[in-house]
Amino acid sequence: MRLLMTLCNRLSRTAMLWLAVASLLVPSVTRADDKRFRLSAPEALVQSGLLQYILPRFALKAGMRVEVVEEGTEAEITLGHHKGRPVFEGAGAVWRMGVSGTHPGAARFADWLTSEIGQRTVTSYEVGGEAAFRLPQVEAEAEAVAVFEGDPALGKRVSLRECGRCHVVDPAHRMGAIGSTPSFAVLRTFADWDTRFQSFFALKPHPAFTQVTGVTPPFAHHLPSPIAPIEVTLEELEAIIAYVAGLAPADLGAPIQVQ
Ligand code: HEC
Repeated sequence: MRLLMTLCNRLSRTAMLWLAVASLLVPSVTRADDKRFRLSAPEALVQSGLLQYILPRFALKAGMRVEVVEEGTEAEITLGHHKGRPVFEGAGAVWRMGVSGTHPGAARFADWLTSEIGQRTVTSYEVGGEAAFRLPQVEAEAEAVAVFEGDPALGKRVSLRECGRCHVVDPAHRMGAIGSTPSFAVLRTFADWDTRFQSFFALKPHPAFTQVTGVTPPFAHHLPSPIAPIEVTLEELEAIIAYVAGLAPADLGAPIQVQ
């Protein structure tokens, strides 16, 4: 018995030590702000009460916290009059949503707000017994489908070969990708996904290892690519964009799955 107790004692002391070590390590491993992001909105929208109504519902569903900050603050999501895609109308204006960066929470919120559930949540907000917001009139002409001229089949091959090392390109080919890198389906949810792909070689982290034939200058001698470099031609890049255009955007509004 005594032996058992000493053993338990030892074990729990070791466990405690491990806990202490783990708690030192954890903050650097999981980013603390993965579950939290900022939304900037003008005073008029904040005053309307809509955000106080929809944000807790989103937070509950997504397990994420949204911090509302002033208009003009650099935030992952902005609601305003000028930039982005129209998401709802009310309080005397058409409100547009802009997403910046690749924060997973922001992508998720953008997807939620434009999903059927998100839209229903917006239109079910009432002031004095009347719906205060409605969906924007569809801007059919403005949203005229952009035509991507590349060859999607070539795009898929090139994507799997060059980008699949880090990105999940096609859900059927998950192998080898890096979990922390956004999948193509997630990137596809951004309203400005095409601009991001057009300029991906100039966006971090790609410049260090990417060459677009005839576009990017060669790597500097003293700064060779730290990893096996990737090289695509403009034609291949167009093909990639045509391929991504046909991808279904990730359904970020799906219930959280415990992995
Ligand atoms: C060595 C790993 C790696 C490879 C190879 C790679 N990427 Fe990325 N890519 C990343 C990471 C990491 C991010 C996320 C960067 C961030 O969140 O700031 C990213 C982000 C992106 C973005 C979003 C950029 C933004 O700022 O909005 C696009 C578009 C993209 N990649 C396209 C591509 C394409 C196309 C290829 C292949 C031709 C490719 N990537 C190859 C690692 C990689």
